[in-house]
Amino acid sequence: MPKIIVVYLSTSGNTKAMADAIVEGARSRNVDAHAMNFHEAKIEELKSADAIALGSSTFYYKMLPPMEKFIDSMAKAKVTAKVGAAFGSYGWSGEAPVMIAEQMRKIGINVIDPVLRIQYAPAEKDLEECKRLGKDLANKIKPK
Ligand SMILES: Cc1cc2nc3c(=O)[nH]c(=O)nc-3n(C[C@H](O)[C@H](O)[C@H](O)COP(=O)(O)O)c2cc1C
Repeated sequence: MPKIIVVYLSTSGNTKAMADAIVEGARSRNVDAHAMNFHEAKIEELKSADAIALGSSTFYYKMLPPMEKFIDSMAKAKVTAKVGAAFGSYGWSGEAPVMIAEQMRKIGINVIDPVLRIQYAPAEKDLEECKRLGKDLANKIKPK
């Protein structure tokens, strides 16, 4: 079964709620999908995924530093050539998902445009957008 891994970094649960909704959307298209916190995620496991979504909230106009380190270790382990997505909750400037997408593209991941940004806690309609992203990712990796 095609597999999607969603890795998030979330300080108060907003980006995590987005990750969970992305997984829900993907599963509704019958793919294997899991969300995990960045410190639970194993780089080796990412290698077996057909699609990877990475999310971080924006702090001080960028992604949180552990997510940058996480992407660096993906690059070192040559986790690449996948379908990808970048997402995150933000308050007022929202740079993190854009930067995540940039870094993912640098290591050769084919990131879906546009990135998904939600201001503060996702409302019901925002969660629907997250589910939509999960479905889009699933559709991209399912055999035709
Ligand atoms: C100390 C601090 C710095 C922040 N810096 C930014 C920022 O530079 N730009 C922005 O858009 N939001 C910023 N935010 C807002 C967070 O991104 C926002 O609260 C987000 O919903 C947190 O999501 P999370 O629960 O997934 O971490 C900041 C919040 C805090 C507490």
